Amino acid sequence: MFDLPDDEILPLSKDHIFYTWSAQARVNPIVVQRAKGVYFWDVNDKRYLDFNSMTMCVNIGHGDERVIKAMQEQAAALPYAAPGMTTKIRALASKAVADVTPGGKLSKILFTLGGADANENAIKLARGYTGRFKILTRYRSYHGATMGSMAATGDPRRHMWEPGTMPGVVHFLDPYRYRSTFHRTNPDISEEEFTRDYLNHLEEIIRYEGPETIAAILMESVTGTNGIIIPPEGYMQGVRALCDKYGIVMIADEVMSGFGRTGKWFAVEHWNVIPDIMTMAKGLTSAYAPLGAVAMKPEIAAAFDERVFESGLTYTSHPVSLAAAVANIHVMREDKLVEHAASLGPALKRMLSDLGETHPSVGDVRSIGLFGIVELVRNRKTKEPMAPWNGSSPEMTVLRKFCLDHGLFLYTHWHTVLIIPPLVINEAQLKEGLDVLDQALSITDRAAG
Ligand SMILES: Cc1ncc(COP(=O)(O)O)c(C=O)c1O
Repeated sequence: MFDLPDDEILPLSKDHIFYTWSAQARVNPIVVQRAKGVYFWDVNDKRYLDFNSMTMCVNIGHGDERVIKAMQEQAAALPYAAPGMTTKIRALASKAVADVTPGGKLSKILFTLGGADANENAIKLARGYTGRFKILTRYRSYHGATMGSMAATGDPRRHMWEPGTMPGVVHFLDPYRYRSTFHRTNPDISEEEFTRDYLNHLEEIIRYEGPETIAAILMESVTGTNGIIIPPEGYMQGVRALCDKYGIVMIADEVMSGFGRTGKWFAVEHWNVIPDIMTMAKGLTSAYAPLGAVAMKPEIAAAFDERVFESGLTYTSHPVSLAAAVANIHVMREDKLVEHAASLGPALKRMLSDLGETHPSVGDVRSIGLFGIVELVRNRKTKEPMAPWNGSSPEMTVLRKFCLDHGLFLYTHWHTVLIIPPLVINEAQLKEGLDVLDQALSITDRAAG
């Protein structure tokens, strides 16, 4: 049924596929054929080490037979049921997801198709629950590409669509130590004071906007593509306290940072914070099937006990995706992948710090669990980035090409290189990838003064 010679895949794709996040004339996709564990292969049998879990989502690694079998069995038994019905897999999946939320406290689950629509629904829930309208999010954030999630997104990906995006979003600054707006002349400030300054900034914005108008604060618990920004101690607790003080719903976007990525099931757990709503996708099924979820406290769900929640999706709670989710959670538990990510965290940290010591173009490195970043600069003193804000540079392009040529698939964003491998990676494989990056950094080193 699926016959097509290998050499016809690329031309046919270029003829008919409209690629997202791409200028169509410049797309040159890898023609992937198969994948297993932390590797994938193209049609010429070239092997790539996957340092981005494809799209930061294949947390349990490629080709896990347990998940594939669960999906096959569900497809054979019942591939679809209408949103208003329930099935065995819906009952099981909602319980399985509720159980992994912090303290099992977010016990009502709304299933979506991915992360953007999870955030859209979280925003609707917060607005419906509070009767307020404004949503506060951070500038260095990505929350999805639909019109509401795009508006919530702080980074420039939203610019092309403004002013047509969802109204009511106010952005604030991230506690980003390496390039802290407030501390350029005072970089050695204590962590406590640093945290306090950013919480004061947030509270000031809450006051200016009027707390009674703010439905939610929506934040990535650890910022993903905008820089693996790890909140300083006390920050998440402080945001939680501000939400409680002003009756604001706290929404944690764990689409990228969830499902073991940071060495906990969800990143918020590092700070013992329980948000009111948590959104997830990606690692929820490790991308074996599309699925997102909004987990909420029962009191938020209860606000809609007698009132209709005016929203829906034809494919909500899709049985095949839910089978993937249940099997994925089972695999994460059985293979202790959250613990594994936590135990490899120090090794990644050490390897990144070694890169920082040997390469003048490395300005900063950060990581938590298996969620890491290398920030490349032209000058360590001025911190001039290796590529401009929202742009690229010849050095970054050549660096990425070098890595791909040497069988390392990774994601570069402006002047940064992200390290987000499947959680099944071992220390030798981590080193294998970082050795290639180590060689590639000689390219950016030449541009660093
Ligand atoms: C933090 C975060 N939120 C939301 C999204 C959107 O998810 P999706 O692409 O599944 O719509 C992403 C995707 O990268 C993300 O990283």
